[in-house]
Amino acid sequence: KAGGRIVTATYGTDEHRRLLRTLKGETMWPPPVWLMRQAGRFLPEFRALREKADFLTRCMTPDIATEITLQPVRRFAMDGAILFSDILVLPWAMGQSLEFVENRGPVLGAIRSEADLNRLDPKRVPEVTAPVMETLSRLRKALREPVGVAAADTVTLIGFAGAPFTVACYMVDGGGSREFAQTRLMAYQEPGLFDQLIALLTETTTDMLSAQIEAGAQAVMLFDSWAGLLPPLEFRRHVIGATRQIVSELKRRHPGVPVIGFPRLAGGMAAEYARETGVDTMALDTSADLAAVAGQVSPDLVLQGNLDPVSVLAGGQAMLKEALAIREAGRGRPHVFNLGHGVLPTTPPEHVGELIAAIRKVN
Ligand code: CP3
Repeated sequence: KAGGRIVTATYGTDEHRRLLRTLKGETMWPPPVWLMRQAGRFLPEFRALREKADFLTRCMTPDIATEITLQPVRRFAMDGAILFSDILVLPWAMGQSLEFVENRGPVLGAIRSEADLNRLDPKRVPEVTAPVMETLSRLRKALREPVGVAAADTVTLIGFAGAPFTVACYMVDGGGSREFAQTRLMAYQEPGLFDQLIALLTETTTDMLSAQIEAGAQAVMLFDSWAGLLPPLEFRRHVIGATRQIVSELKRRHPGVPVIGFPRLAGGMAAEYARETGVDTMALDTSADLAAVAGQVSPDLVLQGNLDPVSVLAGGQAMLKEALAIREAGRGRPHVFNLGHGVLPTTPPEHVGELIAAIRKVN
């Protein structure tokens, strides 16, 4: 009995799906919690699997990808399970060359001309990504049963993609970079070509996320990790414009499925992003003041974030102080506790355990 209301935990109800309910706008205390990049990074049981196959093979083998996705859930009963895959699977599925090089990150055959762009084949995507969809349907089934310390049917399955601008950064620069100068140069010098690339990504990302939802994802997230590199005019065009198109089409095809947007380092553009894109949840990076953003956006907008991943590496009181301040800043509004960027690979799992326990403590 809770608040005079009898709560019956029936299979198939939303009663215990704390993350899904929050993403749909309910206010929960304590807030649900999961961590960006929780799958396949900091756990020793992942590093063991890593020896078995290269990164893309791990993403494309449903047995392995399912297992890696479930590892953090098994240990910590995270409220969300994020699919083990990568934002660069989409360009790779369209035929762009991609390799993950040890200590260097992704290396792609750079797209610099219309001829390069025309060699991409979006029609291949459904077939190439079929194993990812198989992984999602297995995950959805697995999460109906208990998984480690997580109870049956409590964990929300999250699909994802990179947002068009961020994926374009890797496609045009041909790998990671601090500045993505080639990409931004193309946006200024060859706006027609860059618009074509963004349009292609907008369409293929929509279809891929739609397929993820049909396969079992209960919410989807758009990672726009490099959004903050763009000045306002370009931000409106390539971040807000592209995201709005994806969100409105997903809402048309899958009404009620929550969409999380992560315009990293959007700073002064975050409020406009929140207002104009139609995302249900805005994920905040570490630099944002959650309480201040909460004052600038609609009270219905769900906020997610935004603990510094370095504080989790540090652990102890430093981490707990930051974490509880963020939890407090989200009190009284829909908030999903998370990091401001991905969990760092060297993070001790015990620190994550302490963090999750502190967030879940009722006080
Ligand atoms: O837990 C999860 O979130 C699972 C899935 C996931 C991965 N990458 C797995 C991965 C997600 C959501 C991503 C997102 C992603 N990938 C982003 C956006 C978020 C962010 O961190 O800004 C970006 C920019 C990428 C591109 C990418 N993929 C880079 C730059 C790298 C190399 C550096 C790194 O982060 O490890 C990857 C490789 C990658 N993606 C790995 C994993 C587990 C490591 C590959 C390996 O095991 O060797």
